[in-house]
Amino acid sequence: MRLEKTNKKMKPIIIIGAQWGDEGKGKITDLLAQQTDAVIRFQGGNNAGHTIVVEDKTFKFHLLPSGVVYRKKCMIASGVVLDPAVLIKEIQEIKVEGFEIDLMIDPLCHIIMPYHCLLDTSSETKLGEQKIGTTGRGIGPCYTDKIGRIGIRFMDLLDKEVFLKKLNTNLTLKNKELELLYNQKPLDVTELAAEYLNYAELLRPYLGDVSRYTFDNIKSKNILFEGAQGTFLDIAYGTYPYVTSSHTISGGVFSNVGFPPTELEVIGIVKAYTTRVGSGPFLAELHDETGEQLRKVGQEFGTTTGRPRRCGWLDLVMLRYAHRLNGFTQFALTKLDVLSGLPTLKVAIDYTYKGKCIDFPIGLEKLDKCEVVYKELEGFELPQTITTYEELPKNAKTYIKFIEEYTNVPVTIVSIGPGRKQTILRESIG
Ligand code: GDP
Ligand code: IMO
Ligand code: MG
Repeated sequence: MRLEKTNKKMKPIIIIGAQWGDEGKGKITDLLAQQTDAVIRFQGGNNAGHTIVVEDKTFKFHLLPSGVVYRKKCMIASGVVLDPAVLIKEIQEIKVEGFEIDLMIDPLCHIIMPYHCLLDTSSETKLGEQKIGTTGRGIGPCYTDKIGRIGIRFMDLLDKEVFLKKLNTNLTLKNKELELLYNQKPLDVTELAAEYLNYAELLRPYLGDVSRYTFDNIKSKNILFEGAQGTFLDIAYGTYPYVTSSHTISGGVFSNVGFPPTELEVIGIVKAYTTRVGSGPFLAELHDETGEQLRKVGQEFGTTTGRPRRCGWLDLVMLRYAHRLNGFTQFALTKLDVLSGLPTLKVAIDYTYKGKCIDFPIGLEKLDKCEVVYKELEGFELPQTITTYEELPKNAKTYIKFIEEYTNVPVTIVSIGPGRKQTILRESIG
């Protein structure tokens, strides 16, 4: 697939964060959205923050799929947890910018309620030093209710009788939890009901069966699935418990959208170094001036919470594990420009445990005891004017080749700045 206007049918594409999130998924989704018919968010919620820069305008989306800037059909599949107030605000903001949106929300999406946010932040406070470092957006408690079979879905919100019944049952439980465990004031059912019934009316026009749309159109239309968070935040395979509460890996798309396994183009978004927001292990983390430089030059501050991101070297042991989990067919390497000017670059190539090389270990206890082996590569200066792969400095090409040879995944997109034009497309995709 070349990035040109084409009516060619492509394989469905999935965008997956290969690290701990914030790899630049928004930018790459926007780029590829040009030639797709629909962009679908399928997990997570407004813990995500996806940035798109179009000339002098910066868009930050938490729930709206990044296809909205190219005015594509956008969808929120059942696997997403939905904070209606946040979505309504995002819709209003983008409309003010002059965008008409074509949005479909699956009736099976679970709704984030104010008690989810309160429980999220209260439990973090209670955990103290052991806190996860969540975004405080109620993600974990909402997914907990989904799995616990007491959640409120978008379809429930649209039926006043069902909603009030569920809300009453839930609030009895949640208010007890808030008061007894966390010393919080109980929430008022009447106020909450009125507020959420109002949201339901505002969102009702967007109701649609995303699972059905996907099934009906996956063979004839170009569909792009936009992942949120990253592989190492996956609820099962990430650095548990310092993870988010959804499956972030590629396989999750089938159950989260509701369509059968299909061959996909799996694009792993890889930041040229590593960052993480929140607590948890990070073996290649830098606690020195180089780490500070990456944070400053890369403007590594959370899109959702504004927290400074922890920064470190690129970790190929992580990428190899991520490839095993996701089956990447190609990589988009982002923020290569941020490394410009560093005299030498390090990449993690092995973890040793009790003197032996091991794969990315399952379990924090083992991970904590690993030593990292680095390979040193020569740095490069990246001129801003580059538009083709050939123009990249020799050492930048060596850096990219090293990643490809180590992981056996081709780097087909290289991003050298936040803007749309600051992107090098190396070869055809898919
Ligand atoms: P996402 O959550 O994966 O969509 O990533 P975020 O939007 O949270 O964070 C990525 C940040 O890096 C955003 O501010 C982007 O505008 C910016 N960005 C994306 N690609 C590049 C790049 O190649 N170079 C630079 N300097 N910034 C980039
Ligand atoms: P995007 O889509 C980076 C992190 C939080 C915390 C952990 C659990 O922009 O890449 P949660 O609120 O989900 O229960 O927090 O997950 N986290 C992210 N980190 N990017 C994100 O999204 C994230 N979404 C959640 O910082 O460590
Ligand atoms: Mg982000």
